[in-house]
Amino acid sequence: MAGFEFKVHAIVDVELTNLCGANCSFCPRDATPHLGVMRPEIFAKALERVIEYRRQRDFAIELLGSPRTAPPAVSFCGLGDQVLNRHLTDYIAAAHDSDLGVVVNTNAQRLDRAHSQALLDAGVDVVMVNGGEIGERYEAVYELPFEQLERNVRDFLDLTPDPERLCITLVEHDRDPDRVAAVRAHWTAVGVRRFRHLTLINRGGTLEHTHPDYATHPHAAAARRLLSADDALCAAPSLFPFIAYDGRYLLCGSDWTRAVVLPTIFDLSIHEVLRHKDDVVRNGCDVCDGCNHHPHNKVADMIGAVEAGDATPDDLEALVDRLRRSSAFVRQSYDGVPPAPPIDGRRRIPVRVLDESDAGCERETSVAM
Ligand SMILES: C[S@@+](CC[C@H](N)C(=O)[O-])C[C@H]1O[C@@H](n2cnc3c(N)ncnc32)[C@H](O)[C@@H]1O
Ligand code: SF4
Ligand code: SF4
Repeated sequence: MAGFEFKVHAIVDVELTNLCGANCSFCPRDATPHLGVMRPEIFAKALERVIEYRRQRDFAIELLGSPRTAPPAVSFCGLGDQVLNRHLTDYIAAAHDSDLGVVVNTNAQRLDRAHSQALLDAGVDVVMVNGGEIGERYEAVYELPFEQLERNVRDFLDLTPDPERLCITLVEHDRDPDRVAAVRAHWTAVGVRRFRHLTLINRGGTLEHTHPDYATHPHAAAARRLLSADDALCAAPSLFPFIAYDGRYLLCGSDWTRAVVLPTIFDLSIHEVLRHKDDVVRNGCDVCDGCNHHPHNKVADMIGAVEAGDATPDDLEALVDRLRRSSAFVRQSYDGVPPAPPIDGRRRIPVRVLDESDAGCERETSVAM
């Protein structure tokens, strides 16, 4: 799919595994309660759900008056390194054959020349490489060898005539724009042409000391006065539907502790589960209350920034306006979906729980790629 563009409304995250060999300082992987790999029958159902969602979503987007220019896509992403699922190339091919764009997220340590070729042959559109540091800083922050990452990036670019198929993700983990610019310049010199900049997310409050404690934020009450509860609906759950490796829907990519228990892909469609998610955000939960993406928390931070002289009252007004419009979008996104039945927290899918030694074993022995 040449010229593949990201259009957020059409991307579903499917987590092929939450195992990972890295230990990025900005990633709270150790807070996740169990580890595993998506089984083929769960993948088959997940793909079915994404295809079904594409039809429903296109319809909803038309209703909202937006053009349907974006190719729908599945993004293999989640709380781990997606290349560690040994069926990855089969899954890319299956999604590609279903006329979906395919994005793979990885730290690229295992993406050697043979694997890169296999991914390209299977029809991957974009490989998103987590490469927000270089050299010794990379080794300190990611706890992985930089030489290997750079070799794999060069090999991938060498194998494809289209450098846009590789995108480096730059997480602004220490909020140092000069550092980010230096890292970007390094990758540009290597031949990388596509970048995604991510600001630091506190993952529903799981990352400590990176953001204010929103429970005691001095501007929390003022934020609630400026933005009603109806206008404070987070758009992440409807913009980025998330299917976890065990077939359960996650609230969003920030619920690393899996605190919110939602139905599985065998119970409800992606579209149907949106109302459940909205109920969760509306009624409040620990993960949303502590999240720097929550609309009230964003407004509280912005009020603080205005007070400190780092932003203007116009910035605050523009933010509130944007959040109101995005809440309206969230409400419309599940229009026509019947009220959600009560949530059944029982697991219907056996989950293979791996302890730390199992996880190491998975990485060393069963990850045939
Ligand atoms: C969660 S990772 C999972 C996929 C894969 N392991 C990887 O690192 O690309 C997906 C993306 O989220 C980014 N990420 C991880 N922790 C983050 C945080 N606290 N804030 C913002 N982005 C983060 C990573 O850099 C990566 O680009
Ligand atoms: S590579 Fe991705 S999943 Fe692994 S620790 Fe880093 S950000 Fe987290
Ligand atoms: S506010 Fe809730 S739904 Fe939105 S990103 Fe944060 S944790 Fe996810």
